[in-house]
Amino acid sequence: MIDASHVIQQYHADPARDDDRRRWSGNLNTGDFHLFKQALERGDTSTTQHMLDNYMCSPELSCTYDNPSNSTRWCYATELLQRFNVPGETIVEIGAGSHAPVVDQMLTNNPQTRYVVCDLVTPLLIAYHELSKQHDTHYMRSTDSLLYQTQQHRCVLLPHHMIDQLYSLGECLYYNSYSLSEMSPNEQTHYMDVIGTTGSRLLSENYMTGRGRCHLCNQQYTPMQLHVPEQLETCWTDTCAVPTNPGASIQLIHAT
Ligand SMILES: C[S@@+](CC[C@H](N)C(=O)[O-])C[C@H]1O[C@@H](n2cnc3c(N)ncnc32)[C@H](O)[C@@H]1O
Repeated sequence: MIDASHVIQQYHADPARDDDRRRWSGNLNTGDFHLFKQALERGDTSTTQHMLDNYMCSPELSCTYDNPSNSTRWCYATELLQRFNVPGETIVEIGAGSHAPVVDQMLTNNPQTRYVVCDLVTPLLIAYHELSKQHDTHYMRSTDSLLYQTQQHRCVLLPHHMIDQLYSLGECLYYNSYSLSEMSPNEQTHYMDVIGTTGSRLLSENYMTGRGRCHLCNQQYTPMQLHVPEQLETCWTDTCAVPTNPGASIQLIHAT
């Protein structure tokens, strides 16, 4: 198992570690995320360890927002991933959150599954600490090759600023819930380009249409429908298994 000093080391080894401050509507610049980031910056091992051990007590730091329907939603997502994932295909989850529950369930239930988790640095480091308790994980450094590391480890954690390494993986099953619709149009377009260019599929639970706030974290969302390029087509849709605000749905989107 890894500890706070290892997490702090990974943070300081990353030249783009503060890229996440400009993203996700600045969520990482306030509250408990801000305190956690400050502890990492200072190299304060006891505060960092305390926050890593107790992050589930914070609705924001855990990315759970205390939503009572989370477990039902994550269990349904796991079922869908098991249904759509073909043997040998790597799953890439975008924005799994610090708690990363779907990653954990998929790795636990499916011994053959390989997984890449792409998220902003700060939540990704918490997910790294959490997932390494049970699974063979690797946190990517800027000199690493993603393709090589996915062959060596069952679970690879990829900081968002290294997104272009996803092109090297070729066809994968991408999964995202309530992150893409919280990103800027440019970020959505970048992920869609990776998925389209590599001929991958995306299982998405997001706000596709409408205008409003995400029922989870209350952020204004960017409806995804406008940013799905022509070469990506929806081949299957489903209603969300739990209550949301209007505009959210589950879709399987694939490159034509
Ligand atoms: C509301 S949480 C959703 C967590 C989880 N997917 C769930 O459904 O419970 C949003 C997640 O998206 C991540 N995120 C935001 N912008 C991102 C980006 N540009 N690339 C990757 N992840 C991002 C956040 O760090 C956070 O982990």
